[in-house]
Amino acid sequence: MTASAADRLRAEALRAEIAYHNLLYHQLDAPKIQDSEFDQLMRELVSLESQHPELITEDSPTRQVGAPPSKAFSEVPHPVPMLSLENAFSQDDIEAFCRKIYQKLQKEHVVFAAEPKLDGLAVSLSYLNGQLVQGATRGDGEVGEDITANLMTVEDIPKSLKGHNWPDRFEVRGEVFMPRIGFERLNEEVLERGGKAFANPRNAAAGSLRQIDPRVTASRPLGFFCYGWGLFPDSGLLATHTEMLECFRAWGIPINPISARVEDNRGCLDYFEKTQALRNNLAYDIDGVVYKIDNLSDREIMGFVARAPRWAIAHKFPAEEAMTEILAIDVQVGRTGTLTPVARLKAVQVAGVTVTNATLHNQEEIIKKDLRVGDLVVIRRAGDVIPEVLRSIPQKRRANSEAFKMPITCPACGSKTEVEQGGIIIRCSAGLACPAQHRESIRHFASRKAMNIDGLGEKIIDQLLDAGLIETVADLYLLNETTLSQLPRFGEKSAQNLVAAIDRSRKTTLSKFLYALGIREVGEVTARTLAEAFGDLERLKTASEEELVQIPDIGTTVAAHIINFFSQPQNIEVIERLIQLGIHWPQKNSRKASHEPLLGKTVVVTGTLEFFSREEAHELIRSLGGRPSGSVSKKTDFLLSGKNAGSKAEDAKRLGIPILDESEFQEITLSGHLPSH
Ligand code: IVH
Repeated sequence: MTASAADRLRAEALRAEIAYHNLLYHQLDAPKIQDSEFDQLMRELVSLESQHPELITEDSPTRQVGAPPSKAFSEVPHPVPMLSLENAFSQDDIEAFCRKIYQKLQKEHVVFAAEPKLDGLAVSLSYLNGQLVQGATRGDGEVGEDITANLMTVEDIPKSLKGHNWPDRFEVRGEVFMPRIGFERLNEEVLERGGKAFANPRNAAAGSLRQIDPRVTASRPLGFFCYGWGLFPDSGLLATHTEMLECFRAWGIPINPISARVEDNRGCLDYFEKTQALRNNLAYDIDGVVYKIDNLSDREIMGFVARAPRWAIAHKFPAEEAMTEILAIDVQVGRTGTLTPVARLKAVQVAGVTVTNATLHNQEEIIKKDLRVGDLVVIRRAGDVIPEVLRSIPQKRRANSEAFKMPITCPACGSKTEVEQGGIIIRCSAGLACPAQHRESIRHFASRKAMNIDGLGEKIIDQLLDAGLIETVADLYLLNETTLSQLPRFGEKSAQNLVAAIDRSRKTTLSKFLYALGIREVGEVTARTLAEAFGDLERLKTASEEELVQIPDIGTTVAAHIINFFSQPQNIEVIERLIQLGIHWPQKNSRKASHEPLLGKTVVVTGTLEFFSREEAHELIRSLGGRPSGSVSKKTDFLLSGKNAGSKAEDAKRLGIPILDESEFQEITLSGHLPSH
């Protein structure tokens, strides 16, 4: 079927739009859209062109790589072009990729080199007699920019090679990237100086390398991994990609440690799953994985299409960002009365999960991001993080939309609201008389990190309140199976389970109990500090401001909240009833120093543990006198390492920090002694 006028116009519009975004991304290091949006435009153009090949033009972005080099740097022609990769987004795409290979090679099995797809900037490094002599960007694939002086400042890139046997002249290809921690620090510095923050580590890496002054590059935290080569005389001596990269590694060139050889479609997809699970534990951003036929003569048989090899493909992770519509903005009342706007979204898949809500934090955030009901917005959900609205697309806004205003009275009880922190926080003034705050405080009391009453969720709390079975949290401890089984949809078994869970929660710790009380600004950490410092509740109840502020991390505001809480007779009454009803915790002196084998030790937990969740491991470390920490540094005393440990294990090895496995850790908890490392 020939292309309609509309198809032709759409193809032209797509080409212009893609060229514009290519320029922003490759030359100006300042993209305006997300990679996933760019991929979507590209996919649409590829599909139009494959349906109507007459629409393909010489200069179509589907036939080109990147953008022409910037005039700010001198040009470097690439003797072997720097190509791009085809993208795959699904299992079907990978199956189709493999099928073509089996067919063309007439083989039943194929081995692939699988590597993470780093999100940085591709560079080509020329070595002459073992010395780095030139470094260039990809540019348009044929001609790149000379950034030798800048690449010389990147520590990971060897200036002279180790060993021997390298060809007189050859090129290493790889990716320069900025580790996430370095990116966050750099952005803090940039903001402090009043500059504009980089959008992501990729832009920061690209911006850092394309500097006129190499001293600027030198001050930036950059890393490098090699994933291939360009010019390489006699590469026929080695048979596979894996052997080539092993050789490079021996010459001192960094190769990504999580690369692997895998077989067939199945092996590729397993690698994809594993790498995706590891993604958030890596020190740097990756946006997918790359599969390359390992055997070099098979690669030759496969050859190339316009701008990419047929022997390799990039398998992208599902986008962590997506576009959807704000259907409504509701205002929720939290445990301490804070009014929080929440966006109700048209259901959308993000990173494999359906998202329908996202918090908008506060009025200021809504103004800053200029969000309105009816807006088309970009939302993001990374890992287990709560979905977030990044920005709206005002060009697509309805003409009659109105700016959102926070209510001036509490949406739950109609009471007056109070404004704090210059208008950022709006709070209902009714305290526990507000039904929303009351319900939230009970939810908080029962939550996992507080009294941990398994099975006492939102719906059941609402039922109990509606039926008048509870008034305060103390009433929970008077519930029995007979009363509970009268509730609608409540079976005998679930009643038994809930009573058992409530009973189990009677045994707790002082810090969990303090946290469960929901004193304002007393989160988990502060509750623990208070429990450690006071050891018993009676002393804390009567503590003065002077006593409180002496404790590290307790300021006058928190002290005032604590004093205020314990000065209210209804709070004291609930606490006394709870204790009468059997809530108890170990008294401080019962824990002797000899049971604190980790006293004063900093322990970092990494990887997947078999017997403990991350939180339980942290809790155990604390109970043994130690301090859990999130990052490995010289101050770390031990690393507790589970399965699939990533960069933290490498850091610990490098710093000579003893690494405990899970069984050694259990040994410490049981014996109370440290292993003799
Ligand atoms: S191989 C001819 N391997 O992705 C094959 N590329 O979309 C050339 N990239 O320009 C590339 N990690 O900047 C390859 N392990 C990896 C990669 C990788 C990241 C980048 C590279 C390339 C782009 C292609």
